[in-house]
Amino acid sequence: MEGALTARDRVGIQDFVLLEETNEAAFISNLKKRYSKDLIYTYIGTLLVSVNPYKELDIYNKKQMDTYMGVNFFELPPHIYALADNAYHTMLTEFNNHFILISGESGAGKTEASKKILQFYSVSCPSTTLMSTVRDKMLMSNPVLEAFGNAKTLKNNNSSRFGKYMDIQFDSQGDAVGGHILNYLLEKSRVVHQNHGERNFHIFYQLVEGASDSLLQQLGLERDCQHYNYLTQGECATVPSINDKNDWKSVKNALQVIEFDEVNTKHLFEVVASVLHLGNVQFDTDNRDRALLNDNTELQWVSKLLGVDAHSLQEELTFRKIEAKQEQVLSPFTTDHAIYGRDALAKAIYGQTFTWLVHRINDSTENKDASKKTVIGLLDIYGFEVFYVNSFEQFCINYCNEKLQQLFIQLTLKAEQDEYEAEGIEWEPVQFFNNKIICDLVEEKHRGIISLLDEECLRPGDVTDLTFLERLEEKMGNHPHFVTHRLADKTTRRTLERGDFRLLHYAGEVTYCVVGFLDKNNDLLYKNIKDLMCQSKNAIVSECFSNMDRGNKRRPETVNSVISYPPDQFSLISHLDQLQVIMTFMLYLQVATQFKSSLLKLTEMLMAKQAWYIRCLKSNESKQPGQFDEALIRHQVKYLGLMEHLRVRRAGFAYRRKYEDFLKRYKPLCPATWPHWRGFPSDGVEVLVQHLGYLPDEYKMGRTKIFIRHPRTLYATEDAYERCKHELATRLQAKYKGYKAKGEFKKQKEAATKIESCWRGTQARKEREKREWAIKVIKKFINGYLNRGEAKTTDNSEYLAFVRQSYLNRLRGNLPKTVLDKTTWLTPPSVVKETSEILRKLHYRLMVRKYVRGLTPQRKAQLQLKLVTSTIFKGNKDSYPQSVPQPFLETRISDQEINPKILQTIRNERIKYSVPVIKYDRNGFKPRPRQLILTQTAAYLIEESKVKQRLVYASLKGISVSNLTDGIIVLHISSEDPKQKGDLVIQCDHLYEFLTKLCVIANKQSAVRIVQGSIKIEIQAGKESAVDFSTGQEAMVYKAKNGHLMVVATRARVR
Ligand SMILES: Nc1ncnc2c1ncn2[C@@H]1O[C@H](COP(=O)(O)OP(=O)(O)O)[C@@H](O)[C@H]1O
Ligand SMILES: [Mg+2]
Repeated sequence: MEGALTARDRVGIQDFVLLEETNEAAFISNLKKRYSKDLIYTYIGTLLVSVNPYKELDIYNKKQMDTYMGVNFFELPPHIYALADNAYHTMLTEFNNHFILISGESGAGKTEASKKILQFYSVSCPSTTLMSTVRDKMLMSNPVLEAFGNAKTLKNNNSSRFGKYMDIQFDSQGDAVGGHILNYLLEKSRVVHQNHGERNFHIFYQLVEGASDSLLQQLGLERDCQHYNYLTQGECATVPSINDKNDWKSVKNALQVIEFDEVNTKHLFEVVASVLHLGNVQFDTDNRDRALLNDNTELQWVSKLLGVDAHSLQEELTFRKIEAKQEQVLSPFTTDHAIYGRDALAKAIYGQTFTWLVHRINDSTENKDASKKTVIGLLDIYGFEVFYVNSFEQFCINYCNEKLQQLFIQLTLKAEQDEYEAEGIEWEPVQFFNNKIICDLVEEKHRGIISLLDEECLRPGDVTDLTFLERLEEKMGNHPHFVTHRLADKTTRRTLERGDFRLLHYAGEVTYCVVGFLDKNNDLLYKNIKDLMCQSKNAIVSECFSNMDRGNKRRPETVNSVISYPPDQFSLISHLDQLQVIMTFMLYLQVATQFKSSLLKLTEMLMAKQAWYIRCLKSNESKQPGQFDEALIRHQVKYLGLMEHLRVRRAGFAYRRKYEDFLKRYKPLCPATWPHWRGFPSDGVEVLVQHLGYLPDEYKMGRTKIFIRHPRTLYATEDAYERCKHELATRLQAKYKGYKAKGEFKKQKEAATKIESCWRGTQARKEREKREWAIKVIKKFINGYLNRGEAKTTDNSEYLAFVRQSYLNRLRGNLPKTVLDKTTWLTPPSVVKETSEILRKLHYRLMVRKYVRGLTPQRKAQLQLKLVTSTIFKGNKDSYPQSVPQPFLETRISDQEINPKILQTIRNERIKYSVPVIKYDRNGFKPRPRQLILTQTAAYLIEESKVKQRLVYASLKGISVSNLTDGIIVLHISSEDPKQKGDLVIQCDHLYEFLTKLCVIANKQSAVRIVQGSIKIEIQAGKESAVDFSTGQEAMVYKAKNGHLMVVATRARVR
């Protein structure tokens, strides 16, 4: 049902118990909906409703079987396999007996269903070689039984004309170890008569169509069904949908599987053939209406095939034997009697052989092991039948269905009640139609129809079918389910013939025609013929007829004597009157009573087993796929009691489930029960349903199960579950993702930590190595340092190398940039002192070299001059340092500035240098500006165009300057030269330039003197004066009071 719940909106509802409305219309509409989609199976609880599809559906393959094996009944869509599997597993777990009752009208699919179940077991149960042969036999018994027991009827081309109950025995391991078949009431009348459009039993046609020529010859048969009276009455010996030839092969094959030896098989076919021949035995009539039988070939064949004397046979078929005292008197039959006797023989032979066949099959599938077995019984019994004319057979069949319905009601109700009781839930009475009243009508001792029928058969005197009817009317007159022509009201009467009686079965009204009831119930067979048959050389026949007496009572002698039948409109009865004497010699087999007692046994047996039901419905009368005849279905639904069953199932509660199962499915709906309920399941369910808001009236808590009254309650829960499932899925997904991510993260983190620790280890090791190395280095360094002063040893060599290197490196970055920079040189450690010195020199030399190389010739000349200046003045005169950076010019007075006259005068001498000076007069020291021109040979003191004085260098005996900053120069001139006027005192702003040039030109370096304090000067020959020097704030030159020239120089700036 859980499967049904999930699938409920797809195609109809899979379990009728879940229908919202339990009326017939809703029921049929659901069936129809499903049928249109080829869903032929629907449940009512555990009952399976099956609608005949009349076409092959691909739902019986191995895959499907596997799907349904061992799966919870309610989890999958309804299927016959589910039911079979459920029964099987229940049997195994509870170790008890079960039966599956398959019912439905003829052609509804009962036999197919039973075959499907058998096939399912043969595939699904465990097997050993031995078991599989048993299984094969059980499977193969089917085609044989169908050939002998099935026939084409108007309703079904393969209609079972007998009831069949088959037990499959299982051992405790679940192996199918044996089988047993009980057969019920074969419709023997078919052997001699078929309605239009119907056939005799398949085997006759199969034999004629399929047997080899030689077999036919052996049996004296022709390959032509038309040739045989017993095969042609229905006028449809050949039907397109039946392939007798093929079926013959299957039957032959099946006979081998179920271990029929050749002799048995031969005898079996001889019996079948003898029936055909018997049908063709014709009687002639003499003028006294006595039957005559010539010794014809048909008779010969019958006697040959049955292994009886032909003459005796002829006698038994045409004469009655009356044993009077020791004598036997022969009295001839009328033709009707003879035909009646012939047909009775044919029916008896066939019927007995059929029973014999069943016994043989049982022998073959019997389980010989005595250990305890459990069984699953399969009851495939004729369904309710309503024909245009219904006879004794229909009466029996419909009575059987009444009985089964009764059983069904009892078992279902009982099961329900038992469950309620077991669960401790109060039983609520269910309204349904109980057909016990009809069963009683038929079977009640002394009062029921069967009893009356028996009585009538046994009653001495005037007994006919009609007197039987009268007796019925007499006894049943006011029974609500019994009507006859005479008893009926006006309107009903119109629908009844005089010889009819009508029963209001639970499934509907059926009108029976009483004709033949007595006869068929008596199942008369002349004793003589029976005795003859006992002598048969055909083993089957002799065995069957010898056994016939067993269990059958002989007719009590008292009633044997006088039976008279008044002639009336019923033809057969009119002949029966003549049987009055013969009766003495007949066997007494009251069929209905026998049938009743066998049914009683069957129901008793079934009552002791657990029941499963399959209700087969016929979808339409024309055996067409896809046609859903609503009226027909409605009718069947009614007479199969499906609504009744549904009502019983739904009486109190639509749904019940074990607490565990219920909780398992719905626990996500309540926070208290999700994900786990730790307490008792029943408490969990209580909490759950409280949470879901079930009203007290909607459910009941049993001992092990919860009972839910309405489907809607369950649907609401299921809907909530559906919704919740999605949420849950999402939640689970999220949780799972989270869980996975967390795991991943953890893994990554672990990995990271691992890597990290590895890395740290490596780092630490490196660090340690480095440190060790450092310690060594430092040690060495310290050692080196301590021993740095010593000669190179192993201790200090590296240190020294380091010192050297680092010094050199430092030195490289700190080299002096100019030659003049004497201070920058880095102080070397002692180890490189020497090197440093060498380098220093090298470096300076290099710088000088660079410097020198970069000098222009002019600059070189200039520097050479400056060098001269330096040698003379450096350290001697205070203003010298300031003069050093002042460049020397070529001249201070250009040629243009010199008077041309002068130029003219000294044109022979090259002018080397000219400078403006101030000349102090010798007398009074008056300052006079003059131009001083140096030529190669002399110096000229010029005033405008006048040469004031020419001083040849030879007469220049000395040059004096002070040591101060002043620019006073005293040129000492040799007094030997008369032309000279004494020493020359001048003041020149470019003192150093001028003196250097003069010294160089005149080669007078050594003549320069640097004087402190005062320079003596010779004014004239013998007349001296002096120039005194001092320092002061302001440079001044003036004539001092002492007549000396006073020169005040500013103090030299200290650099
Ligand atoms: N499940 C089924 N699938 C297909 N066809 C089916 C099925 N059940 C019955 N039939 C058809 O219906 C016919 C009659 O079925 P059968 O079992 O002989 O009916 P019943 O035994 O009830 O008289 C079968 O011969 C078959 O053609
Ligand atoms: Mg059948």
